[in-house]
Amino acid sequence: MTTLDTDLITIQKAPRSRIAEVNWDDLQFGRYVSDHMLAADYNNGEWQPARIEAYGSLALPPATLALHYGQTVFEGMKAFRHTNGISIFRIAKYHQRLQQSLKRMAMPPVPYDLFSEGIQALVSLDAAWVPEAPGTSLYIRPFMFATDTQFGAKPSETYKFVIFTGPVPMYFPKPLKVKVEEQFIRAAKGGTGAAKCGGNYGGAVYPTELAREAGFDQVLWTDGSPDLNIEESGAMNVMFVLGGKLVTPPLSDTILDGVTRDSVLVLAEEMGYAVEERPVSAYELVEAYHKGALQEGFGVGTAAVTAPFELIGVKGKNLHLPEIHPGMFSVRVRSLLSDIRSGRKEDVYGWNTMVDQMW
Ligand code: COI
Repeated sequence: MTTLDTDLITIQKAPRSRIAEVNWDDLQFGRYVSDHMLAADYNNGEWQPARIEAYGSLALPPATLALHYGQTVFEGMKAFRHTNGISIFRIAKYHQRLQQSLKRMAMPPVPYDLFSEGIQALVSLDAAWVPEAPGTSLYIRPFMFATDTQFGAKPSETYKFVIFTGPVPMYFPKPLKVKVEEQFIRAAKGGTGAAKCGGNYGGAVYPTELAREAGFDQVLWTDGSPDLNIEESGAMNVMFVLGGKLVTPPLSDTILDGVTRDSVLVLAEEMGYAVEERPVSAYELVEAYHKGALQEGFGVGTAAVTAPFELIGVKGKNLHLPEIHPGMFSVRVRSLLSDIRSGRKEDVYGWNTMVDQMW
């Protein structure tokens, strides 16, 4: 066993690698975790030194607050094979969103250096786990949760920050059937919709299960108003191409500030698309459909990048979208993003961090 020290992080390498267990031809999302994880504890009002060690279980007393009252926040990021090594996408932007989520959940900030250096050290150590096939990547999952064990409902004074990674395939291999959800909502004004907190995902499971039983893959969340303004798609942001323009709901306290959403909007302008960030209602989609102007609909998120819809269910009627083809915006922007992340196209926005090969 080798023990290495850096200024910020203590590293203890795993005694043996599990990489031989990976079936690279059948990477299911979330199936494999890499050899190492990072963990850091917050107590007495400050972060204690971080450790990178073999991926393994966390021993948690049953009274651990996060398990009861939900003070838990996560991020989802990616590292890619790049012509010059390995790149990590938009570390600063993901860190900024993590801070916003933590603030909303009354949790202490994670210092940028801990986040950025921690991710880079971890990815460097597990570089062999970054897959090579087109559309694949190393998913990075930072998360943090309340660890006080006095079980009164109160803000925790102690927290644990953890990062682990795992190789992933393309998230949605097939176009999606989505349903405009009218009974349930994901987020309400003044709620936690803009935070990447566990509860937002837990609350989505039941409506999604019902939609699946009805033959859909996901729900299209609305704002719950009679206008049925569309907010998100499943666990992703959502975009439409309507009459040649890219339209997406504007950010608010009910919509996650998606890093892929932001990246796609930047690239859309570069590609010459008119971009409109404005409310878009289910009724507008139906009207556009009948006029032949509903050209594309797709989810946008880190895991999926872009996930095109083949069908949108609205009030019992199905809107069939044009068949997916390589000329579509959602397909072209996905491949442009992929080219930037893998070094086939210049990274003019400074989105990539190249990982130093430390080991
Ligand atoms: C992502 O798109 O990375 C997310 O965090 C969603 C998650 C459910 C996979």
